[in-house]
Amino acid sequence: MINIVLFGPLGSGKGTQAKKIADKYGFIHFSTGELLREEIRKQTKIGKKIKSIVNSGALVPDDIMEEIVENFLKENCNTKGIIFDGFPRTLRQAKMLDEELEKYNLLLDLIIKLDVPEEIIKSRLLYRAQKEGRTDDNEAIISKRLKYYYRDTLPVLDYYKQTNKNIVSICGHRDVDIVFNDICLHIDKILLQKMQI
Ligand code: AP5
Repeated sequence: MINIVLFGPLGSGKGTQAKKIADKYGFIHFSTGELLREEIRKQTKIGKKIKSIVNSGALVPDDIMEEIVENFLKENCNTKGIIFDGFPRTLRQAKMLDEELEKYNLLLDLIIKLDVPEEIIKSRLLYRAQKEGRTDDNEAIISKRLKYYYRDTLPVLDYYKQTNKNIVSICGHRDVDIVFNDICLHIDKILLQKMQI
């Protein structure tokens, strides 16, 4: 089994690339953002609790996220692979993910960091707002989401460096398929290493 974290700011292409990886390799795409939006749409107990948080651009509390991830891993610890898209987003979530994976004798094989300049992020998300109307894709909320990214999520990268994780940085400001080809080179390398063990 292979476990990958797609890391990067809002609009860096995590969701786009995660879908392509899942299609090509048969891995499970675990998008916490999509999962939370689904809870909101269905007006579940969690959905009602988090609606205003997500719409304001803030992060959902760690204890809610941890319960979601714990349940997800219980059901999916025996698959070909998982791509974590949008999780972990805080230091506490990152430590929790390591601990949970360890329970199943698993670890994170690869952290793919997508680099995209802030002005490109903003223009991508404002364009998406016109097409799809996501409630958190407006200028004020985008700025807030960026603030949370720098304050809470970026430190996760330092944690991964300190714990000697396999991190690769990829320029995400290129054609979708070119970015994807680069990502595949790294995934293929890991798969090859696993076959040789
Ligand atoms: P989430 O849904 O995870 O949003 P995000 O991280 O802000 O990610 P985005 O979907 O905006 O961007 P992306 O990097 O996936 O890029 P995408 O491929 O979509 O989270 C939403 C909210 O949920 C959070 O704010 C928070 O409230 C809550 N939440 C989620 N997870 C949480 C957690 N773990 N803890 C606490 N709270 C949590 O692409 C963006 C656009 O760019 C698209 O239109 C796409 O078509 C376009 N695009 C992509 N790649 C390219 C390219 N190479 N060239 C041109 N355009 C491109």
